[in-house]
Amino acid sequence: MNERSPRRSESGFPIEPVYGPADGEKPGQYPFTRGVYPTMYTSRPWTMRQYAGFGTAVESNARYHQLLNAGTMGLSVAFDLPTQMGYDSDEPIAHGEVGKVGVAIDSIEDMRLLFKDIPLDKVSTSMTINAPGSVLLLLYQLVAEEQGVPGDKLNGTIQNDILKEYIARGTYIFPPKPSLRLVADTFAYCRTEIPKWNTISISGYHMAEAGATPVQEIAFTLADGIEYVRAAIAAGLDVDAFAPRLSFFFVARTTLLEEVAKFRAARRIWAKVMREEFGAKDPKSWMLRFHTQTAGVQLTAQQPEVNLVRVTAQALGAIMGGTQSLHTNSYDEAIALPTEKAARLALRTQQVLAYETDLTATVDPFAGSYVVEAMTDEIEAEAQALIKRVFEYGSAVDAIEAGFQKREIESSAYRTALEIDSVERVVVGLNRFTIDVEEPYEPLRVNPAIEAEQAARLVRLRAERDNDAVGAALDKLRAAAHGTENVLYPMREALRLKATVGEVCHALRGVWGVHAPRETF
Ligand code: 3HC
Repeated sequence: MNERSPRRSESGFPIEPVYGPADGEKPGQYPFTRGVYPTMYTSRPWTMRQYAGFGTAVESNARYHQLLNAGTMGLSVAFDLPTQMGYDSDEPIAHGEVGKVGVAIDSIEDMRLLFKDIPLDKVSTSMTINAPGSVLLLLYQLVAEEQGVPGDKLNGTIQNDILKEYIARGTYIFPPKPSLRLVADTFAYCRTEIPKWNTISISGYHMAEAGATPVQEIAFTLADGIEYVRAAIAAGLDVDAFAPRLSFFFVARTTLLEEVAKFRAARRIWAKVMREEFGAKDPKSWMLRFHTQTAGVQLTAQQPEVNLVRVTAQALGAIMGGTQSLHTNSYDEAIALPTEKAARLALRTQQVLAYETDLTATVDPFAGSYVVEAMTDEIEAEAQALIKRVFEYGSAVDAIEAGFQKREIESSAYRTALEIDSVERVVVGLNRFTIDVEEPYEPLRVNPAIEAEQAARLVRLRAERDNDAVGAALDKLRAAAHGTENVLYPMREALRLKATVGEVCHALRGVWGVHAPRETF
């Protein structure tokens, strides 16, 4: 139980950290329906972790300092598409996307600038990077080493969830088999070199944003999780050696009662899968720890300030659902990259919920609620049935290649669109309570010279580095990719010698090929 004295209510009576029958399930107890930690927010609020990144490393570094000064508790890096797809900023395929949806990172030099004057032993950093997740993790570790911070002092997460990329997001590079090998290599590398690092953020968010229902979101995400666990065990890893460092990422919709139930059901399913199906012994292997981002797809460009209310309702669902880390969307994100003011307001929303409400005074406040307990059971049953349907294809990868998850999500998305068109589903400001003239809005402008700047930096980098040493290091990486050696070790050496993100990924493309999705209708 919480050693701190109970918080006092506004009326003066104590608010107990945990309520419920003496013989009932407690927070921090298997199967963790009520939360993964016994004390949850009564001893530490969730991590306020705002996803941010755009333009050059210098511009994004400035935004991170603004967020840290505004009170954000963890960093969360958004990379531009060329970086996410393993291309350099000066490659023709990158034209028009450099620095657009995230920061452009080509080399160790950019990574150094991204974290300039940010002590990497003091912050935890999430990086939304998948196919080249290991590449960016190693650049982070190399920059930390330059700061004198050893790997075992680093805290953070790489998304590294390639399966949902095949299903919903699309930033994959290699075919499934080598991709799963790279994920398993990353698990093994972190176990030895960066033991406190969360090696994967198994994501439902993007499937939800593509239209998945809450049941589909957790069923397909947990099915991906089961696939990763099976791949790591098949690679020879003991389940308790990597499972404690798996993490998850879900959406928070405006329908907050169902969202609270969704999170509680997801924890219960995962705990049972890990203990009963995989025989995990370490309670940390049973705990589903997750990050939440409020639903971007539910924001409107019409009357954008109304999004502040939506984000608050969505954040409430995540918090009462027991999230470990939370990103609240900026009200203007349906229009453009968030302005500094909008990003600050999004963080302030979390700070009001954490420090002005009584949400952190007690754990799992909806426990015992007739509706939420009933929804939790309903969602658990339906999600377990859907997970079974996924594995009737053989594996989650087989189901993905058969297009099962994609078809299920697309039909849900279509149903939602019809409901909005028919106003059966009200979207305030969009299909009801509209106004004739929208007020003016001044979007954030991204640096127009960024492509030329990045290209010039790459020319200088390639001229200054020891190209023979880089070539030899890339050959070693290719040799490892052909064999069974953990590729992260030769990859780290190549990056340290200033090989670029594109060069490392091209070396692996040359060995593993690239994924060509089978279009199934
Ligand atoms: N009692 C005991 N210990 C506690 C505690 C409590 N009440 N609360 C926290 N702690 C401890 C934890 O055990 C942990 O210690 P450990 O690391 O030694 O175990 C430490 O305090 C930090 O707590 P958490 O791990 O709970 O919180 P973090 O914020 O560090 O980690 C996470 C949360 C979910 C596990 C992690 O994986 C994470 O930060 N994920 C973030 C992912 C993310 O930001 N993704 C963004 C994606 S953006 C995107 O994809 C969308 C775009 O495409 C549109």
